Amino acid sequence: MEGNRLKGSPFCVRSANLSSAKLAGSAPTSVNTTAKLILVLLLWSVSGWLLLGTGALAHMAQHVRHTLTEKRRRFSAERSIGQYLASHAVRKLQIGAGTNHLPGWLNTDIEPDKDEVYLDASGPYPIPSESIDYIFAEQLIEHLGFEQGLEMLKEWRRILRGHGTIRIATPNLLTLVGLFRDESAEAKRYAQQDIAFNNLSLLPTAPSAVLNMQMHRFGHQFLYDPETLSRALTSVGFRSIRTTPVGRSDDPALDGIDSHGKVVGEELNRYVTMVYEASK
Ligand SMILES: C[S@@+](CC[C@H](N)C(=O)[O-])C[C@H]1O[C@@H](n2cnc3c(N)ncnc32)[C@H](O)[C@@H]1O
Repeated sequence: MEGNRLKGSPFCVRSANLSSAKLAGSAPTSVNTTAKLILVLLLWSVSGWLLLGTGALAHMAQHVRHTLTEKRRRFSAERSIGQYLASHAVRKLQIGAGTNHLPGWLNTDIEPDKDEVYLDASGPYPIPSESIDYIFAEQLIEHLGFEQGLEMLKEWRRILRGHGTIRIATPNLLTLVGLFRDESAEAKRYAQQDIAFNNLSLLPTAPSAVLNMQMHRFGHQFLYDPETLSRALTSVGFRSIRTTPVGRSDDPALDGIDSHGKVVGEELNRYVTMVYEASK
């Protein structure tokens, strides 16, 4: 009823006009929409390529800058090393020196400060064979993986003169593991001091906190026990392998040069550190 009434009414005529207008305009609208879609897609892909292009260019520029900086750093290191070798009859090379600037030594580090020379301990070294009398690395070898450490020791043997000596100070893994059994007051003091010095959580047991820290923090890669270090030294051809107390050596050139105690505390350093010397 209602529908029939409306049919003859002006509402019905209007709605009929509206729908015919919609029908008449439907083809051009869909063409417009398709064109717009294509345009958007085109713009999107062009801007994508542009972005990719500028990204690749920026990446290339960064790579070139990095390579140039590396080359400059190596060149300047080679010059400093050459100057040191030319001006010293007895040549003493410290690797991973940190803040320990030893007078008369060629003090090097992978992150050198202004008084040090750039040298990556893992090698190869821009240093002639059989040209160095002493090599010293305190708290460094544990920052390299085991294989890298072997490569480093091979380089040391190559550059060392026949009568030369090397000195390595590094945390003793056996001492660290021993904390689980060591009931001595010294062991307890060491663990407490190390926990306080490094802000370790008090939740794990002291030996567990200290051992895990030594394994995973500071960029440590491989910790040595005495037997493993001796085998590594022997395997690359070092002889006369011997231990010395921290800070002490029978060789005057190596006596009193250890400095890590100044950083972490003398007692802490003495407890955990083992020192090895060796010759060719
Ligand atoms: C724990 S600090 C020891 C610093 C100093 N020898 C001492 O005993 O106080 C380790 C040092 O080794 C350096 N180092 C780490 N990896 C190295 C690498 N591959 N070659 C040379 N130095 C490196 C670090 O930059 C840092 O100065």
